[in-house]
Amino acid sequence: MARILITSAIPYINGIKHLGNLVGSQLPADLYARYSRARGHEVMFICATDEHGTPAELAAAKAGMPVADYCAQMHEVQKNLGAGFRLSFDHFGRSSSQRNRELTQHFAGQLAEAGLIAEVEERQVYSNADGRFLPDRYIEGTCPNCGYDRARGDQCENCTKQLDPTDLINPRSAISGSTDLEVRATKHLYLRQSAMRDQLREWILSKTQMGGNGQPAWPVLTTSIALKWLDDGDGLQDRGITRDLDWGVPVKKGTEDWPGMEGKVFYVWFDAPIEYIAATAEWADAGGRGEGAWERWWRTDKGAEDVRYVQFMGKDNVPFHTLSFPATILGSGEPWKLVDYIKSFNYLNYDGGQFSTSQGRGVFMDQALSILPSDYWRWWLLSHAPESGDSEFTWENFQASVNKDLADVLGNFVSRITKFCRSKFGETVPEGGASGAREAALAAELETRVRAYEGFMEAMEVRKAAGELRAIWVAGNEYLQAAAPWSVVKEDPEAAAAIVRLSLNLVRLYAVLSQPFIPDAAAAMMTAMDCDDWSWPGEIGAALQALPAGHGFSVPEVLFRKITDEERADWQQKFAGVRN
Ligand code: 2FM
Ligand code: ZN
Repeated sequence: MARILITSAIPYINGIKHLGNLVGSQLPADLYARYSRARGHEVMFICATDEHGTPAELAAAKAGMPVADYCAQMHEVQKNLGAGFRLSFDHFGRSSSQRNRELTQHFAGQLAEAGLIAEVEERQVYSNADGRFLPDRYIEGTCPNCGYDRARGDQCENCTKQLDPTDLINPRSAISGSTDLEVRATKHLYLRQSAMRDQLREWILSKTQMGGNGQPAWPVLTTSIALKWLDDGDGLQDRGITRDLDWGVPVKKGTEDWPGMEGKVFYVWFDAPIEYIAATAEWADAGGRGEGAWERWWRTDKGAEDVRYVQFMGKDNVPFHTLSFPATILGSGEPWKLVDYIKSFNYLNYDGGQFSTSQGRGVFMDQALSILPSDYWRWWLLSHAPESGDSEFTWENFQASVNKDLADVLGNFVSRITKFCRSKFGETVPEGGASGAREAALAAELETRVRAYEGFMEAMEVRKAAGELRAIWVAGNEYLQAAAPWSVVKEDPEAAAAIVRLSLNLVRLYAVLSQPFIPDAAAAMMTAMDCDDWSWPGEIGAALQALPAGHGFSVPEVLFRKITDEERADWQQKFAGVRN
């Protein structure tokens, strides 16, 4: 039994996430957490909302709410949607928590002490009417390239040209519309991560190969992005870690004020990953568990030396997790736990284009649950996870997967065998005679496949694991089809009963194996088998005898229904764009 710490990239607070966001971090992290628990490991699975920064301020302003209230509300929304998708977090925290504020200030103090923070004087646009500095995207004006009159200071939305606020013609504040702007000097803190380049490089290079005690090499997607950022251009750049905003963690050096940094906050990407630690502390607080309870996951001087720490994220998050956050952890000079394995994902596209939050293109988490239960989505998303390259959601493919894998193969198997047994032998597992060659062949196939499935799950090869699970369902279905107890029963009821007993045991086995992917259906299967033995199968022959003759069961409701062509066409149109 091991101790496994699992974190999912923490989603931005502004708005409901789409299915592409979900499959890029939270969902595969949940798969791994569920599997690890099923194997008897002690798991700590952490996520949170990422609540600071300009996007949160802008979204709150758009909603006409104070930003703190907006975040509190959206946190609840995201938390409930996570529960709707059966994401089994031990804690879903908030980066605006007191814990994160203290830890973020603590890390900044440690880094300053280690000489890893530089104070840099910059020139930035100040709005007299608003009484604040404006981040680039808070400045609007006419694009010098295409003439679009609502171009933002960082980019023109119309012609996509990257801009500097000073490029804009007739610049104005996006907050008040005021044109009373000036360029002023302001001081910011920079994390001197370039000073740690060699240390970071050595660490990342060590992850390109299999490590000691069997630690696998990181996915190439992860290491290639990290190495590219380390070596691109002039190499790893120092990063500004403060902003002139109201909303965020106030800049402090530990518990002390930071002269010259009054009124400034830390940059959202500085405090966000620290929230992984803080959320674990929030978990301890919520259960009145005390400091030691979370520290044993995060402090190598307090028990975390034997923790395996795995992070899940989309590829755009990789640089922050391979360079900036490790620089914070290493630079602190304190014994914090560093990540052991980073599982990263490519993008999921939507029906011939991209998911788009701003254009409302694609399916968002709330919409998905409003049309079908979470297991349908979990299965499709995980079995099509964008691992080796970007992948694409199409309604045709979704319909085909659900109808075939879930309804025709798994659902049909469960329904067929339970109904047949009820009609011929009643609602108890029948005794039956000895099993024969066909059963031995099935057990042998399952033995091989279940061990392969374990290998893929441990390696977080999500698609391959889904493929193996599907093959395990197919094997049962094909067995039942070939054994045909409905024919055999006429000549040899004993032999038919043996087939039925084995098949009912397969239902229980499928529940155990499928639970990480489709937890609700697995629970329904287990309930129908009137069983709560979720123990992971050792030798398959033994696992197929868990339900003895005479054990009662019931016929479950339809596990998975089919998606009709009409529904498919309807949804395709409904989710094509512009969500209100
Ligand atoms: O890309 C995102 O959604 C970011 N909010 C992820 C942050 S992950 C971490 F640093 F906490
Ligand atoms: Zn333009």
